[in-house]
Amino acid sequence: MDGIIYVVGIGPGDKEHMTFKAYQILNKMDIIIGYGTYIQLIEDIIKDKKIIKSGMTKEIERAKQAVELAQEGKKVAVISSGDPGVYGMAGIVLEMARDMVPVEIIPGVTAATAAAATLGAPLMHDFAVISLSDLLTPWIKIMTRLEAAALGDMVIVLYNPKSKGRPKNIEAAREIILWHRAPETPVGLVKNAKRGNEEVVITTLKDMLNHEIDMLTTVVIGNSETKIENDMLITPRGYHQKKNYSKAQEVLE
Ligand SMILES: C[S@@+](CC[C@H](N)C(=O)[O-])C[C@H]1O[C@@H](n2cnc3c(N)ncnc32)[C@H](O)[C@@H]1O
Repeated sequence: MDGIIYVVGIGPGDKEHMTFKAYQILNKMDIIIGYGTYIQLIEDIIKDKKIIKSGMTKEIERAKQAVELAQEGKKVAVISSGDPGVYGMAGIVLEMARDMVPVEIIPGVTAATAAAATLGAPLMHDFAVISLSDLLTPWIKIMTRLEAAALGDMVIVLYNPKSKGRPKNIEAAREIILWHRAPETPVGLVKNAKRGNEEVVITTLKDMLNHEIDMLTTVVIGNSETKIENDMLITPRGYHQKKNYSKAQEVLE
């Protein structure tokens, strides 16, 4: 039998937010490889499968293992939370597999859109997703991107906002954004989006640091037009409600 690797986005958490395709693929696999925390999220779906768990920063090992198993003829799923092509496993698996084994990427609901749905409709206009993790990206590049996004009046979604190893990046990011955006700008903080233990805070750029932010949080910072209505964030799409007098005009003619 020919081996294959599927890189599967399992969505933000609870299985209701996984795509049907991801669910079907996981059911057909011989082996599931993933970071322990993500395996736990889908344990009830994959309990009859061979599972290979590994820790954080073991992405290269996971990809290598998947290639070796697929070369032996196995059907292997490498899982990522959210979408595997957004700070996930898709890239490294493709790089490792080259032309040796087929790879298919199964998309998933990424944290940005999961958090946005919880907050209302903050991503109705152009937005930038920026990770504050400087593990693999120089901090100067992250700061440049933050300023460019702020200058362009884009809604800004921050992934990896704060960890024990880098507690101050979120403070620095907020300072940079404040160079170009008002302190009253609406901000949404969503922890564990679309998981049973979801937590939501709607705040402002001025006050956001008074709330808990951690590695399980996605931060959504509005643009200059984002507003708070009924405890929801809304970024207007730009539809201008023009009054249409033509019908009344026709009556008069
Ligand atoms: C390495 S990125 C992985 C992103 C993932 N591939 C995706 O598409 O959502 C990890 C960051 O995503 C965000 N994140 C992932 N899942 C989340 C969730 N359920 N709720 C809130 N934020 C989440 C957090 O900011 C976390 O630090």
